[in-house]
Amino acid sequence: MQIAFPATPDDQPHARVVLVGPGNVLSPGAAAADKATAGQLARALIAARFDGEAAAIVELLAPAGLHVTRLLIIGTGPAEAMDAGLFEKLGGAIAARLQTSGETRVSVDLNGVTAALPIAEAAAHLAHGAALRGWRFDKYHTMLKPKQKPTLGHFDVLGATGADAQHARLAAIAAGVMRTRALVSEPANILYPESFVEMARDLADLGVELTILDVEAMTALGMGSLLGVAQGSVKPARILAMRWNGSGDAASRPVCLVGKGVTFDTGGISIKPAGGMEDMKWDMGGAGAVAGAMHALAARQAKAHVVGVVGLVENMPDGNAQRPGDVVTSMSGQTIEVINTDAEGRLVLADVIWWAQETYNPEVIVDLATLTGAIIISLGHDHAGMFSNDDGLAGQLAAAGEAVAERLWRMPMGDSFDKLLESAIADMKNVGPREGGSITAAQFIKRFVKPGVKWAHLDIAGTVWAAKPGTLHDKGATGFGVRLLDRFIADNFEAR
Ligand code: BES
Ligand code: MN
Ligand code: ZN
Repeated sequence: MQIAFPATPDDQPHARVVLVGPGNVLSPGAAAADKATAGQLARALIAARFDGEAAAIVELLAPAGLHVTRLLIIGTGPAEAMDAGLFEKLGGAIAARLQTSGETRVSVDLNGVTAALPIAEAAAHLAHGAALRGWRFDKYHTMLKPKQKPTLGHFDVLGATGADAQHARLAAIAAGVMRTRALVSEPANILYPESFVEMARDLADLGVELTILDVEAMTALGMGSLLGVAQGSVKPARILAMRWNGSGDAASRPVCLVGKGVTFDTGGISIKPAGGMEDMKWDMGGAGAVAGAMHALAARQAKAHVVGVVGLVENMPDGNAQRPGDVVTSMSGQTIEVINTDAEGRLVLADVIWWAQETYNPEVIVDLATLTGAIIISLGHDHAGMFSNDDGLAGQLAAAGEAVAERLWRMPMGDSFDKLLESAIADMKNVGPREGGSITAAQFIKRFVKPGVKWAHLDIAGTVWAAKPGTLHDKGATGFGVRLLDRFIADNFEAR
């Protein structure tokens, strides 16, 4: 979808959107449309019991007196709440409504609209919301009927000339989100460790420095924990590091973003039930979010030093797969009794986090992982679980999440949970009891974080994939994490 901020609407008749507030307070564009239609707009609002609620839409097809194919009247909600998030929501609602409507162009009239932020910024966020909500993964549909195909190719915002500069930054972020969604959407026969790396190669064009570890390198480094997971698959494991240093200081300690990249999780020998197992193609959602965040940061030339590191493996049961009871030695030297081969994400993260610390000496580590089903039971689909050893870091992440509506909810940690990981034969086992399953998983990861390193773990199992469309995404891959991480970096590591 092409986005533009023209001074005047396109000559060809197309869909027009005007804004109306609570109490049916008409924006100048809405008032003009009402006049041109001899009061049809106002009558339609009454007939529809329209109340100006945020993103509520009334649609007039081919209204007489106006040079438009259809007129959408959209509610803004109360004036004081017309912030960036509201404009994204409006853009999303417009895109969702018109995407397959047959309309090829829409222009949203912001002339004379006042908001809680400058109108150029509001316009940029409106377009951003439309771009995010309008994304679909149609790659493998070859038989869509014409009416099922997206038609909306142009999204114009009127009354906001000059918004291109504000929008450029958001377009970089949207491109990162779309990269993540595409990765998460790909099936596991297409997306596996080596192909994930190939699909990330073009990040180099944005100035991202790529480092790839193959099985030989990981073996030499002693990554027995990660390699134990990978050994049941014919697809060789990889670690991919994506470094962006926009800080202007080559020696600055980076922020490391670490992602779980299990390209398919059968559970291994502790095999999962068949029903719903196809969902485990998105068990690389953490790695996908990290790749997308690196794209966003590089594309908008973020003034920060950030390294994204993803551990890519496929968890399969074959004759060479690891068995329950196997003991593996991690790169850190700590030994692990693998009680359950389905608790594989933490085994991957253990070695990736250790390697990231040895290689990049980060000040802060944030890991993202579709780690536990238990976090979905705890928090549902609207919040990701956050675990941290640092209150300041937890606060920064929570604030970033709130700002972009990718919400986090902090979970507890502590010695009593850590004790549950004691093993009779090794330094630890990879699972605790069923209860508090997300917390023992976080405690396990914490054992691989060096003293003095600020660390947060985001369990995103409930937020990576949506069964239903949301405000800024269709059903399917949400791209969760990209906007959150981008905002976290922008607010805490760029202005210093
Ligand atoms: N990838 C899964 C977690 C998951 C489950 C993500 C459902 C998204 C939806 C993870 O590797 C896993 O299998 N976790 C186990 C841990 C258990 C064996 C301790 C789980 O949650 O059941
Ligand atoms: Mn698993
Ligand atoms: Zn998994």
